[in-house]
Amino acid sequence: MTATIRLITEADKPQWVELWHKYLKFYASTGIPSDLPDTVTDTTFARFLDDKEPMACFVAEDDETHKLIGFANFLWHRNTWAVEDRIYLNDLFVDESVRCGGVGRKLIEAIYKYGDEHGMPSVYWMTQVFNHRAQLLYTKAGVRDGFVTYSRP
Ligand SMILES: CC(C)(COP(=O)(O)OP(=O)(O)OC[C@H]1O[C@@H](n2cnc3c(N)ncnc32)[C@H](O)[C@@H]1OP(=O)(O)O)[C@@H](O)C(=O)NCCC(=O)NCCS
Repeated sequence: MTATIRLITEADKPQWVELWHKYLKFYASTGIPSDLPDTVTDTTFARFLDDKEPMACFVAEDDETHKLIGFANFLWHRNTWAVEDRIYLNDLFVDESVRCGGVGRKLIEAIYKYGDEHGMPSVYWMTQVFNHRAQLLYTKAGVRDGFVTYSRP
């Protein structure tokens, strides 16, 4: 299986939504409340396509079937430690049927390239401590920065 990584388009919405729901189901299985209203999904998707919004999405398309098999949703924001914005990789998902085939790594690398091309070389993301599967990829595609995240209760 080979895949092409490209920015999302309007026509991708039904397939992206399908994968998005699988991703939310994955998070629900880890204890994160993931029953998002459709308005959130619709707003997020619309923001990917709005040039004024600091948010975008790369999708992975199977070269043979032309079906979407993964996505990386990302956004960028101001940073007190640099002049340029910083990219935050918000969501990464690869369909179960094609995992361990390098698609996740390709999605991360596409964001690195996007960052380089848009003057935002710094990219970061987080994962749950027990998501060992994702960390097998992250220790190769990135470095652990030692930060621990907290949220408002
Ligand atoms: C995490 C996820 C995106 C990874 O996608 P993927 O396409 O399977 O990842 P890749 O195939 O690109 O990367 C796998 C890397 O981990 C390594 N790896 C995979 N399984 C491994 C194993 N059992 N032992 C050792 N290394 C392993 C591979 O060697 C590969 O490294 P390489 O590129 O040097 O060969 C995917 O598993 C997923 O969607 N999981 C559910 C949702 C999720 O956890 N998202 C991330 C939330 S933070």
